[in-house]
Amino acid sequence: MIKLSGKDPGSFAGDLLVYFIFETDKKTIPCPNETVRRNLKVSWKNGDFTGRKGQSFLFYPSTTENKLAAARVMVVGLGRKEEKQDDCREQIRLAAGTAVGRAGDFKVKTLMAVLPEKTGLADDDLAECMCEGLILANYRFDKYKTVDKDEDRAGRVARFILQSGDFDRAAVRRGMRRGTRGAEAGCLARDMANEPGNSWIPSRFAEFARKLGRKSGMSCRVIDRAGMKKLGMGGILAVNQGSDLPPKLVILKYRGTKKGPTLMLVGKGLTFDSGGISLKPAAGMEDMKYDMCGGAAVICAMQAIAEEKPGGINVVALIPATENLSGGSAIKPGDIITHFGGKTSEVINTDAEGRLILADALAYGIKTYKPDAVVDLATLTGAVIVGLGHHRTGLLATDDALVKKIIRAGDRAGEPLWRLPLGPEYSKQIESRVADIKNIGGKGGGTITAAAYLQEFVGDTPWAHLDIAGTAWNFTEKSYIPKGPSGIAVRTLLHLVRNWK
Ligand code: BES
Ligand code: MN
Ligand code: ZN
Repeated sequence: MIKLSGKDPGSFAGDLLVYFIFETDKKTIPCPNETVRRNLKVSWKNGDFTGRKGQSFLFYPSTTENKLAAARVMVVGLGRKEEKQDDCREQIRLAAGTAVGRAGDFKVKTLMAVLPEKTGLADDDLAECMCEGLILANYRFDKYKTVDKDEDRAGRVARFILQSGDFDRAAVRRGMRRGTRGAEAGCLARDMANEPGNSWIPSRFAEFARKLGRKSGMSCRVIDRAGMKKLGMGGILAVNQGSDLPPKLVILKYRGTKKGPTLMLVGKGLTFDSGGISLKPAAGMEDMKYDMCGGAAVICAMQAIAEEKPGGINVVALIPATENLSGGSAIKPGDIITHFGGKTSEVINTDAEGRLILADALAYGIKTYKPDAVVDLATLTGAVIVGLGHHRTGLLATDDALVKKIIRAGDRAGEPLWRLPLGPEYSKQIESRVADIKNIGGKGGGTITAAAYLQEFVGDTPWAHLDIAGTAWNFTEKSYIPKGPSGIAVRTLLHLVRNWK
């Protein structure tokens, strides 16, 4: 939790007091605090510290005749003033991340951040982004480290205080709550992803959802193997055949309105993807514990939504969860399966399993909940990394209005997306000689043919698919994004629901 303080920053007696400064051509240092300006003067004059993005300047007020009670004071560069709102937002998150990164080097436990003035943001947005940056950058996953003697390892800040200055305190509080909620949900998604495949198994999604349902009042339903058989969910059952752990289809429902629209979210919850009989190469296979990041994004977004309680929209979330292993009963290349709803599919490659489990969830969810729009998220294809690298999520959709909403939400969250096309040429690539469709599309357009497969199951419902294989881990380098899982799309989904209208 982050606290708010209206007290003079000079009286903060903690480990680190942080000021944020814009890069400017003016001679005077754009900082309201006289002591800070005095200490920064030489560095500023020499052009060492200019307020550039990523820069920081540290001094120890006790060693000079200063009126600051903090053990250390840091000045962090924001860079040039940005024009666009979304860029202003990102600028704050990045600077907050820089401060926390350096704080870790000094084993800082208490940190006060003084909110900068004239950022171009409303007070609530400023506080929101500051909290996001602080919390997301302060993330560590060390629960499996039994010895914590590594002197070099960066520590975690235990307590943050925001200094609200002349800002509207009610607005700042509102923004803090928003930012904290989104960032904590993002960190939770990182935790789930960091858990190894022998811990975060399909039943963990079910347990988490049940608890969340009880806590938040959302209704929760879990369809198990027997239920799947009854319903004819041949995709998820087929993928599960090679695993000894039972599959789960986890469903959570948030009700924010009696009459309003329903948004359906679907997240791929593949807790480990070995490729199955079409086995993946050994090198890097350990990363396939992250193949549940779509499911994590959806379930963590639901937690944040349940806390925030936005009105005017209902959200139903489905997470199909299973492992993809190569046990004796595993599906084989050439097998033909029948999805929920009756469509048949020839499994050419058992490693193209994500689309098989998503197909059932999409078809079942649309039939059961009749949503007005559907968004699915999945670490679906390596091809999206070839196309977009680790910097943008791939977006494929049948509805331009939905695309617009999602891109706007992603930009607000600092999680950019890039749209790729769909079309009959691509759908043709997945025609099968012996079944309705086949599960790979041959050479070229791998991300698109994967989406074309999903498209077979969404009918006329406005639908968008987010391929997060490139962004769910090793996401583009940022001060507030650690190595490993990024928690991608949690905050994008939260913005999407918040601003649905
Ligand atoms: N989970 C993988 C996609 C993936 C690959 C994510 C690399 C992150 C990094 C997915 O199930 C998969 O294996 N896709 C195959 C599809 C292919 C067999 C058509 C792929 O992308 O190689
Ligand atoms: Mn796979
Ligand atoms: Zn996979």
